[in-house]
Amino acid sequence: MSKNIASARISTQSSELLKALNDSLPFDKILYAEDIEGSKAHASMLATQGIISQEDFEAIDRGLSEVKAEIESGEFNFDDGDEDIHMAIEKRLTQLIGDSGKRLHTARSRNDQVALDFRLFVQNKTQEIAELLLTNINSFVQKAEENSSVMLPGMTHLQHAQPINFGYHLMAYASMFKRDYERFVSSYERNNYSPIGCAALAGTPHPISREITSEKLGFTAPTLNCLDTVSDRDFALEILFNISTMMMHISRLSEELIFWSASEFGWVTLSDRHATGSSIMPQKKNPDIPELLRGKTGRVNGNLISLLTVMKGLPLAYNKDMQEDKEGVFDSVRTALLSLQVLNEMILDMRVNEEQMQSACMIGHLSATDLADYLVKEADLPFRDAYHITGNAVNLAQEKGLDISQLSLEDLQSIDARIQEDVVALLDNRASMNARESQGGTATIRVLEQVETLKLWLSQQNGK
Ligand code: ARG
Repeated sequence: MSKNIASARISTQSSELLKALNDSLPFDKILYAEDIEGSKAHASMLATQGIISQEDFEAIDRGLSEVKAEIESGEFNFDDGDEDIHMAIEKRLTQLIGDSGKRLHTARSRNDQVALDFRLFVQNKTQEIAELLLTNINSFVQKAEENSSVMLPGMTHLQHAQPINFGYHLMAYASMFKRDYERFVSSYERNNYSPIGCAALAGTPHPISREITSEKLGFTAPTLNCLDTVSDRDFALEILFNISTMMMHISRLSEELIFWSASEFGWVTLSDRHATGSSIMPQKKNPDIPELLRGKTGRVNGNLISLLTVMKGLPLAYNKDMQEDKEGVFDSVRTALLSLQVLNEMILDMRVNEEQMQSACMIGHLSATDLADYLVKEADLPFRDAYHITGNAVNLAQEKGLDISQLSLEDLQSIDARIQEDVVALLDNRASMNARESQGGTATIRVLEQVETLKLWLSQQNGK
């Protein structure tokens, strides 16, 4: 095994166990593109500032492009005993271009280097996730518009409550995903500051320009304080939290899709592309996709808690514990990107069974609140009295094996003489749904208004 190029004090070979524990190359090699991009910007700045020569910069720049090509074509030898992607790339660069390669690490430490690479990765993935969220919001809005008259029982406590429409239900999720999107965007903006040039922890005596590297790499500005910068992993925690919250929303929807597609409900049918069979029961079609989305939410939550726990006791500045920041983020990001793509397909392909949803509205006296509201409005009763009278009407319907919307005027008047003929139309479930036309409510016209609002919002995001 070759001696590590970055360990001047370590004379003996590292134990195999130390390597197994210490090496991050097996997982951090996915940061190669960010590492090369960051090194190119750093080297270019060093040349501009006269810290290295123009010739050295050109050799470094060319050499780094070559290393990148080797990695992307699969020629790069990752099994050369290197500790991490930073050392592996620097070593190969020096093999390719000679002494110029040894000048790259001037005014830089792996501490600011890894902070840069990881932050660039998180920023790029934040953008990718945000894009996919927009795609999903667009699909949910489209499906909501198509289903803005399809009635289903709205629930609280998983008990039938009031009639709503399926478009309304989908717009609830579109609203959650909009907040998720905004959370990713705001994290992007808050964390878009450049760590490079902070060196080990204290800055550097070389006349560097952190503004130049910051601008080259697309950051808003360099970070303020180097001690904070090399020990800061808030950006990683933010993407983990943002993913967890988003997955929590996807998981709640998955839970609903799972029971909506059970035989007892039959409200939706997931496409065969998103279901699997059973190895023993030939008749079965299982909703594996929403189950996996729900299950993976547990894993991404674990990743968030892991990193919070790693960070909570660390003194300033860099500590090797922080190498544990990466695998959970890579895992959560992979899960988020895959989940959003699958979710989008599943929602667009799902069949909505309008008749089953509508007949479920005849269970549970969904329009009972409308009778109470009627008595308040038309007979000027205090709501509590109206509530009790309505309770009696529900009991009567129950005795007769009917839904409250099926009671005759005589039935209703036997409960309270103040009830007039116009109530019968009000107790119809569709009338009940469309009566809820307060802002943000479930009436079809209000749902279509919500659809229009999000369509406008989407068109503004795409233009950004
Ligand atoms: N592989 C390390 C990590 O991921 C890079 C930083 C190492 N810095 C150091 N001083 N040992 O955190």
